[in-house]
Order: sequence, then structure tokens, then C-alpha cells
Amino acid sequence: MGIETDYVRERVSEAVTKSSSGQNGGRELTFTEKRQLKEDEKVLYTDIHCHVIWGVDDGGETREETEKMLREAAADGIGRIICTPHVTPGVYEFPEETFERHFEYAREYIAREGLGISLYRGAEILYTDHVPRFLREKRVATLAGSSCALIEFSPTDTREHIFDAIQKVSGAGAIPVIAHMERYPAIGKIEQVRELKSRFRALVQINARTLLRKQPLLRRGFMDRLFREGLVDFVATDTHCMPGRETCMTQGMKALEEKYGAEAARRIAEMPEKVLEGMGK
Ligand SMILES: [Fe+2]
Repeated sequence: MGIETDYVRERVSEAVTKSSSGQNGGRELTFTEKRQLKEDEKVLYTDIHCHVIWGVDDGGETREETEKMLREAAADGIGRIICTPHVTPGVYEFPEETFERHFEYAREYIAREGLGISLYRGAEILYTDHVPRFLREKRVATLAGSSCALIEFSPTDTREHIFDAIQKVSGAGAIPVIAHMERYPAIGKIEQVRELKSRFRALVQINARTLLRKQPLLRRGFMDRLFREGLVDFVATDTHCMPGRETCMTQGMKALEEKYGAEAARRIAEMPEKVLEGMGK
């Protein structure tokens, strides 16, 4: 019996027991509790940003680390993962063959252990001047073959650089998904996010862990507005095999629901399904 099944069973029976015995005050189950009750479908959350494949970036060095991260993802209620190793087009060559081999191994491991996770290919693309050309020539992975490209920047990049980059990614025919949007002070104003979304169809991804950590006052206000105004499109784990960067999707989504309501949680949990359906194609 896979570890995730034990976890889900426990949570489900806890929720059902509470609900039927009235221990929850007869209240309706929350969105996140209901999500967990979808046990049969084995699709709980989809993680669109995760460094689960070993030996290709700073995600993990050994096969055992990938195995551990996959078991933990299953236990965290994740049913689908888009693997997004760091790539730096035109600057560092990505070890494509190694990734392919390790990716296939990860799929076999999931099947063998009955973890119930589907894996998809993707990349977290550090923006370089080469990125638009790589996207046009289809030399860099988008999210699960959709038109969405997960783009990251350096936290010290300027507003001008980020706007110019997003415009060029969009001009190359991709939908830019800004990876961990909370990390870039240069575009840390609501008006800037609105502009990026309206002019370039940019989408916003926030790390689940950010929802669990106490943020500095300014960033807290910014994050609050992002969520309350429906400007966040994805919450993902950005899991690396290192302390403090473990998976925490269920906890993050619970915190999101408590703070911003079931509708926001539902919209964000379901958004990756559009990507898997080939968004923008
Ligand atoms: Fe990442």
C-alpha cells in the first residue's frame, strides 16, 4: 500500500468521522477537505513547478532522492507533477539525455510503488536573451507541451528588464508564467502585475511555502492583494531535495482557503488542468 494512500485514507476518514458525528459542528467540509475526498480519482493537486528529477539541476543528486521526493509528493496529495528542472537557454547546455533517462526511471518507480502520480515534462526557464528564439524553435520545454512557459528571473532584475522579457516571451508565441512572482521586488506592485497580465497574458505562480511563512509587512500586503483580486493563477511547491524546500501543497492550499476562501482555492487548484489540456494551443 503506497504511503499516499495511507495519508489520504487517514485524512478522509478523519474528515468523514468528524462530519458524520457532528464533531465539526455540522459544518460543510471545506474545499481542501473535499479535494482530499476525491481518493478514487487519485488526482488531488497538480504541481506545475517541481525539481523532482535527480542529476540535472540543484533538485537532488541521487535516484534515492527522487524516490523520496515522489513518495513525499504522493503523501502530500499530489497526483500530477510537471517536472521543471532549471534551464538557462544559450548559456548552459541542459543534460537532455540524462533528464530523459531519469524521467523514465521516475515513471517506472511510481508505477512499481503504486504512487498514483502522473509525470509530465517541463522546465523552469531562467530568462536570457536567447529564450525567445529557443521558444520559437521549440528547443526549450514548455509546461506539459502547452503554450505556457515557466520563466524565472534574478531577484535583482529591474522592472524594465522583466517587462521587456515578458513581452518577448509573449511575442515568441508563449504564455509567460512568472515563477514565484513573490521574489521580484521590481514588479512588486499590483498595478505592475495587472499590466503584465493585461498586456502580455502573463500568469502568476506563487510558491506554496510562501503561504505558510510569515512575510515582511510590505510583501504581505502585496500578496494579500494578489490573492484577493484573483491575480494568482498557480500555487506550486518548487520542491528541491533540501531542508526547507520540501513539498507542502496540502498545507499551502489549506492556508490559502482559510485566508482567501474556497472559491480562490478551487480556481487555483483547477487551473493546472487547463495547462494539461494544452492551454493556448
Ligand atoms: Fe524552481
